[in-house]
Amino acid sequence: MKAVTDITAPEALSAFWMPFTANKQFKAAPRILKSAKGMYYYTEDNKPVLDGTAGLWCCNAGHGRSRITEAVSQQVAHLDFAPTFQMGHPLPFELAHRLTEITPAGMDRVFFTNSGSESVDTALKIALAYQRLIGQGSRTRLIGRERGYHGVGFGGISVGGIPNNRKFFGSLLTGVDHLPHTLNIDRHAFTRGLPPAQPELANALEGIVALHDGSNIAAVIVEPIAGSTGVLIPPVGYLKRLREICDQHDILLIFDEVITGFGRIGSPFAAQEFDVLPDIITSAKGLTNGTIPMGAVFVRNAIYDAFMEHGGPAIELFHGYTYSGHPVAAAAGLATLSLYQEEQLFDRARDLSDYWEQGLHSLRGLPNVIDIRNYGLVGAVELASEPGAPGKRAYNVFTKALELGALIRVTGDVIALSPPLIIEREEIDQLFNLLADALVQGQ
Ligand SMILES: Cc1ncc(COP(=O)(O)O)c(C=O)c1O
Repeated sequence: MKAVTDITAPEALSAFWMPFTANKQFKAAPRILKSAKGMYYYTEDNKPVLDGTAGLWCCNAGHGRSRITEAVSQQVAHLDFAPTFQMGHPLPFELAHRLTEITPAGMDRVFFTNSGSESVDTALKIALAYQRLIGQGSRTRLIGRERGYHGVGFGGISVGGIPNNRKFFGSLLTGVDHLPHTLNIDRHAFTRGLPPAQPELANALEGIVALHDGSNIAAVIVEPIAGSTGVLIPPVGYLKRLREICDQHDILLIFDEVITGFGRIGSPFAAQEFDVLPDIITSAKGLTNGTIPMGAVFVRNAIYDAFMEHGGPAIELFHGYTYSGHPVAAAAGLATLSLYQEEQLFDRARDLSDYWEQGLHSLRGLPNVIDIRNYGLVGAVELASEPGAPGKRAYNVFTKALELGALIRVTGDVIALSPPLIIEREEIDQLFNLLADALVQGQ
């Protein structure tokens, strides 16, 4: 057996091909988190690192919550795995039922996956199959958005709008169009909360409908707030207008709420926050507080009913994962939901959002800061890119912040922040003080 005693030794790092990581760069100067509790990660030498990103937008209830870890330990000893294909076990039924306490009214049907990417591909497949089942088989086109991130499955990268995530992977799904993204720094830099209405952005869907005819379009998918490409906040009225246009042409609307779900912006889902009812919601991450991988797709009852009526004769939807509704993940989900409810963490996110906004916008005027965006407990600081080296400035701030004791996330030259919802005001101050120092010292 090859034992590795020093995790940072080159031989210890070589085997793991790290995801979305500059492997050579990382392995030359590794950054290792060893443990976590509450608002903090701890490094190899036990240095605390304030978590400004809830891991990767996952740990909304903070780290190492005994309620969740105990539920997981008990469940794994009790029933480690059981199939959900033509068999059942209690936990996914219970979790699905409990989740409908927080989903928008009329979205009471839940399909379980293992990740956000799988939730997205599941949602797209449900949309296509539904259109066919109701006699609308010509509706095969899918509409995404520039700068959208919908995970890394072929469906997700096809409707997604991130060039690097697409360009290496062949022809992708055919029949996909993209709406324009919603960021307009020239006109609306440093907006607090929602940018002002820009009707032309949602109305661009009308142009796509005119080009293809609505009768050929199955679904539109957007993130209510786009996270991974640098926190793009929807302008006032944008999501409502998309809903209107979809309604006019019987097009399904999918909200990808993998990051906005589970209280990140104050309501359980952005659908409720912006008072827009989509047909399908995708989720993951905060569903289990990141403890065990799991995703969920919430579907309007009428869509599920259509499958029950027209699908079959036996299996109504030919789709599913070995681990859909995994007992240990479901146990984590149930304990997480209880924590969210008992500690009223979604309300907490809303209550803290003004304080968060003030702290975040106090970074205006620091070197190279060209925009600051926020909503709920989400924030972004955008830096002017160094000529010829996009992403370099933000990366340097990221490494400097880590050295100073804060974990932030960067994408291109945008610093994205999304702390656990348990964050205290003093920790918000601490995060922005550390970030201010990193912005000054790191560039
Ligand atoms: C909006 C959105 N959709 C999908 C995904 C993909 O989730 P996963 O990495 O769990 O597959 C992400 C991940 O960040 C996301 O932000």
